[in-house]
This record gives sequence, C-alpha cells and structure tokens, in this order.
Amino acid sequence: MLRRLHPEQPASFAFTPANLDWAKGQITKYPEGRQASAVIPLLWRAQEQEGWLTKPAIEYVADMLGMAYIRVLEVATFYFMFQLQPVGSVANIQICGTTSCMICGAEDLIAVCKELIAPAPHTVSADGKFSWEEVECLGACSNAPMAQIGKDYYEDLTPEKLRELIGRFSAGEVPVPGPQNGRYSSEPLTGLTALTEFDSGRTQYNGSVQRAVDIGETVKRIDGTEVPLNLSWLRKGTDQPAPEEHAPHDASASEKKAAKGLPGKVAGKLTKGKPETEPAPAAPAVAQPGQPTATGMEAPAARPVPGRQPAGLSAPKGGQADDLKEIEGIGPALERLCHELGFYHFDQIAAWGEEEIAWMDQNLKGFRGRVSRDKWVAQAKIIVSEGLSAFRERAKTNDY
Ligand code: FES
Repeated sequence: MLRRLHPEQPASFAFTPANLDWAKGQITKYPEGRQASAVIPLLWRAQEQEGWLTKPAIEYVADMLGMAYIRVLEVATFYFMFQLQPVGSVANIQICGTTSCMICGAEDLIAVCKELIAPAPHTVSADGKFSWEEVECLGACSNAPMAQIGKDYYEDLTPEKLRELIGRFSAGEVPVPGPQNGRYSSEPLTGLTALTEFDSGRTQYNGSVQRAVDIGETVKRIDGTEVPLNLSWLRKGTDQPAPEEHAPHDASASEKKAAKGLPGKVAGKLTKGKPETEPAPAAPAVAQPGQPTATGMEAPAARPVPGRQPAGLSAPKGGQADDLKEIEGIGPALERLCHELGFYHFDQIAAWGEEEIAWMDQNLKGFRGRVSRDKWVAQAKIIVSEGLSAFRERAKTNDY
C-alpha cells in the first residue's frame, strides 16, 4: 500500500507540556548519541495527542531527536500503525482481514464499516466520528474475526455485534473490549478441557481486557491534560476538586490548541466531537441527546440530575469488604476508588438512586460515567437479591 503524507496539513505541531515532559523522559532512556532510538515512542505519542501523524509532527520529532526529516518520514511511512491522514474523532476502526479473520467473516465486518462509516477506507465518516481500514493479522487469530478499535481489541465479532459496538461508541460509550461472544479469552466455547486448575482465582476479565478496563484509554487521546487520580478532595466531602490538586480540564482550549493552524476543513474534523480526555460515555460532544446518531441509534438522553454524594462507611462492615470486582466494569483501580469513598459492599451500591449514580458518574475522575455505563446498581441489586452464583450465570450473557 502506498503511504504518503496527507495533502492537507496543519501549519504547526507542538507537544502539550505534559507530553513534552514525557517525551524528554523517553529520550533519556538511551545513551548519548543514540537518541534517535526514541523515534517510535515519540511519533506514537504525537499520534496519541492528535489522532494522526502530521508533517509538522514528524518534523517536530525529528528536530527533538536531531534527525534528518527524511529519516523520521521513513519510519512514519513504513509502519501502518501510524495514521498519515485524519481519522475519526471517536475512533479509527481497524478490521483484521488476514486468513483466520477472513475465513471467519472479516469481509462481512468490512461491509458494515462501508455502510456505517464510509465506502472507502481512510475516509472520515460524514459526522466526523469514525474512519476504518483493513489491516494485517493483529495476532488474535483464535478470536477471529476481530477489530482493533482505538487501543483495544474487540474479538469474536459478528456483523451485528460490530454494528452495535459502533452505535455504542457513537453514543459516547466505551464498550468493554475482548471477546464479544461470552468467552473469557480464547478457550473453547464449551469451556476449558485442560489446565482447568488455572480457571480459579482469575480476574473478572482476561489479562488484556482487565488492563484495558482498568486503564480506560481505549479511545482516549493523550493530550496531556489528564487529571491525575487524587481523591483527597472527594474525601473532604466537596463536590469540586481543590484548585491546587486538579487543574480543571479546559476541553475547548485543548481542542483549539490541537486544531491550531489547521486548514478549516481538517480543523473541523479534529475538533468536532472530539472525545473528552476522560472516557465520559454520555458525552454530548459526540452525540446530541435524543438525536439519531450516524448509525441510526438514538443517543442517550442527557442526565439532568445534579447528583448527590452517596453516604460512605469509614470501614467495611465486620472488617470484611465484598469483592466489588464481581461487578462487571469494576477492576482493582475502581475498587480502590470505591474504598476511598467508603463503599465496600454490594448493598451500598444497590441502594444508590438516580442522584447518587449521577454524582458518582461525575466524580469518578478518570472513570467518569462508569457507574451508569456498566450498570453497577443493577448488577449489585442482582447480587444482593439473588446471590453471587446466580449473578455470575446472568453476567455470562450480560443479563442485568
Ligand atoms: S488473522 Fe485476524 S488476528 Fe490473526
């Protein structure tokens, strides 16, 4: 495939201060005279910041590393993980079209992309949210057919599943990645037949999915304005971060910065509907509530509820907390946050009403919107009323 720079280019590129610090740190990993070895991580971070690699970004990285522009251009044009043209503001969907995936239905997935996103690959959809491309084997052949969406793998796909996933992304959600047919990882559909002793003590999701859920970066841009996880202000019972602990994220300013110098057409694509720095699912920026999305699915209504902080406990009842990770969507990081806020038990979560859910959705920094997105309360209610065994059975088919 011919890989060339896009004909429309912005006037300039600059790392955000946080990304610049990160890039300088990467360069120090290499011995004097070998700074060029940092070229791939720096190009990758530039892409994570902007969504795609622009000519100014390539030259900026070259200048940082003391490399000739052509040397960095060679790297950027060689690896197809680097996007050389604008991508959808929500996600660039990469469909694996190699042997296993092709045999198992990749062509049907591509047909869905053509129908919902754009007839041709590397084309941004009419609403600016998505683009798609066919890629070579992504190494998840036993879960074919599959797609990489943002930074994570969505496996065991069907056209219907992919259609649903695109609709959910379009509505501002970030569906849990990994197998989409109920499998834990790549075991037989009928369950493990060997090494069954390794089936105990496992995390809620398989390793890579668990990590994806915990990090929450699936379709997030690393624009350097991420609010660090610090819950001390929450424990004070306030509803706003203390200024010295959390610089408020000025999304409009960062978007303007990202689009600075872009030709109007491209700038519009980059700023329109750009996702929040944090993975906020009910984001009006990507879909107007009540309005049909590009996929024909209706976006969720805006939550008008101001929110009320749920009452927490100072310690778990009886000194023993429930394993909140049983709830789909809660991993170790979110469980720690719950504990920080005084939530240790399923019955506490089951008792949250609409106002408490709204407050939690707004205040779980770095995980905004997760409570409603993953239906914590509905899951907790089942656990409380029917017990864990029944819940686990229902969770296999997302029956909550
Ligand atoms: S053939 Fe698709 S992941 Fe390997």
